[in-house]
Amino acid sequence: MQALTNSRIETEYRVRTTRSAQLYAEACAVIPAGLTHDSRTLLPYPIYAARAAGSRKWDVDGNEYVDYFGGHGALLLGHAHPAVVEAVQAQVTQGTHWGSSHEAEVRWAELVHRLIPSAGRVRFTASGTEASHLALRLARAYTGKPKVVRFVGHFHGWHDQVAAGSMSHFDGSVPAGIPATLVEQTILLPADDIGVVTETLRSRDDIAAVILEASGASWGMVPLPEGFLAGLRAVTKQHRVVLILDEVITGFRWSRGGAQARFGVIPDLTVLAKIVAGGLPGGAVAGRADIMDQLDPAAAKKAGREKIGHQGTFNSNPLCAAAAVATLSIVEREDVCDRAEATTDQIRAGMRQVLIDENVPWGIYGDASAFLIFQNPNGLDIDPATFNPLRHGFKELKGVRNANLSHRLRIAMLANGVDIMGAPGGLVSAVHGAEDVARTLEAFRTSVRWMKTEGDIAA
Ligand SMILES: Cc1ncc(COP(=O)(O)O)c(C=O)c1O
Repeated sequence: MQALTNSRIETEYRVRTTRSAQLYAEACAVIPAGLTHDSRTLLPYPIYAARAAGSRKWDVDGNEYVDYFGGHGALLLGHAHPAVVEAVQAQVTQGTHWGSSHEAEVRWAELVHRLIPSAGRVRFTASGTEASHLALRLARAYTGKPKVVRFVGHFHGWHDQVAAGSMSHFDGSVPAGIPATLVEQTILLPADDIGVVTETLRSRDDIAAVILEASGASWGMVPLPEGFLAGLRAVTKQHRVVLILDEVITGFRWSRGGAQARFGVIPDLTVLAKIVAGGLPGGAVAGRADIMDQLDPAAAKKAGREKIGHQGTFNSNPLCAAAAVATLSIVEREDVCDRAEATTDQIRAGMRQVLIDENVPWGIYGDASAFLIFQNPNGLDIDPATFNPLRHGFKELKGVRNANLSHRLRIAMLANGVDIMGAPGGLVSAVHGAEDVARTLEAFRTSVRWMKTEGDIAA
C-alpha cells in the first residue's frame, strides 16, 4: 500500500483511484517501475485506463477524464472514432497479417504522398523509432558520410543512435548501455543558433544529415527561433546534407501537410508515426525519390548504388493500414487540424487568464493543437500575460525541470477530471469541444489554487 499523506491534492487523488493503486502495486512486482513507457511516470502512481471515446477516457475506478494524452498524440480524431473503429472491425475478421502486399497499403501510401509535400516515395515501418532509424540509414548510404547533426533535447525515438541528449545527457555524455562509438557519430548542437549549424556544416566534410523535430524539442516545449527551419533548409542544401524533418508529432497535426506545409520548408526526408497510422502502431519514412529508391534493387542498381535493406514483420500490416486509411481520408477531406487548433487557442487563452487571475508566475504556450505549461521551477520573474518561451533557453524550458511540480499538477488535474501529459501540457483532438474546454479550465483553476495552498506555488 502507498504511504498516507497530509496533502489534500494527493488525498483527493488517492481516494478516487484505489483500484489503480492496487493495479500499480501488482505491476511493480513484474514490470520495472510498474511502467511500460518512461513518459507514463506519475507520482504517487498512474491511473489505469479502462476505456475511451471521443475526447474522454475512463479509468478502472469509473472516473471520467477529459483526455489530453490522445494516445501520445496519435489520436487527432479522438478515441474510437466511428470511421476508424468500423475500418478496424471490418479488417480484423479478414485477418490481421497476411504476410502479403495488399491494397490498403497502396491507398495508405497514396494518401501520405498527396498530403505530405516532401513525400515523393513512402516506406512504412512499425513505429516512429524505426522510421528515424531507417531515415538515418538512408541518409548515410546516400551521402556515403557517417555523421549526423542532432539538436539538444530533440527526440527521435529511443534507439541507440539518438538516445544521448534527447531526454537526458544533454551535455552529450554517453548514457549507460549505449556504445560511445555510436554517440560519437552524432554531433549534438544547440537549436537556437543557425550560425553554429552553418559553421559546423561549412567546416566539416563528414556530415550525412541534419535531423530535427519540426516543432522544436518535445512538440514545442523548446520552440525554434524564427527563421531557424528555413535557415537549416538553405544551409543543408548548400552543403548537400540530407535534411530530415521528424514530423512524428507534427505530421497531419500542424497542418494536414504537417509542419513542412505550415512553414513552407520542404525537407529531403520526413519521419512520420502516430497519426500516420490512424492511432494504431506504425510509422513511415517519406521523401525524395532518389534517396528513397535506394530501397529498390533495380533503381539502386541503375543509380550505381547498393540496395539498402529494410525489413519489419509488422510494416504496413492490414489492421494498421485500415485505421490509417480511415484516418488520413478524414484528414484529407475535413478541416480537422483547424478545429483542433481553434479549441487549443481557447484552452491556451483560458489557462493564461487563470494564471493572471490567480497571480501565478507560470507561462502558457504551444503551437497548433499543442498546449504547454511552463511551471517556472527556478522562480523567474514571469508575467503570464506576456510570457514568451523564446526569451528562455533550452535549459530553462526543458534542461532543468522540477518533475515533482509536474506530477503535482497532473494529479490535481486528474482529481478534477482532466488527464494532461507530463510536459506538462497536452495534445488536443478535433473532437474536443466547448464542454471539454470549460471543464479543463475549471480543473486548472482548482488545481493551481490547491497548489498555492499547499506551497507548490509561492503565494
Ligand atoms: C518527435 C518524435 N519522434 C519520434 C518518436 C518515436 O516514435 P515511436 O514512439 O512511435 O517510436 C516520437 C515519440 O513520441 C516523437 O515524439
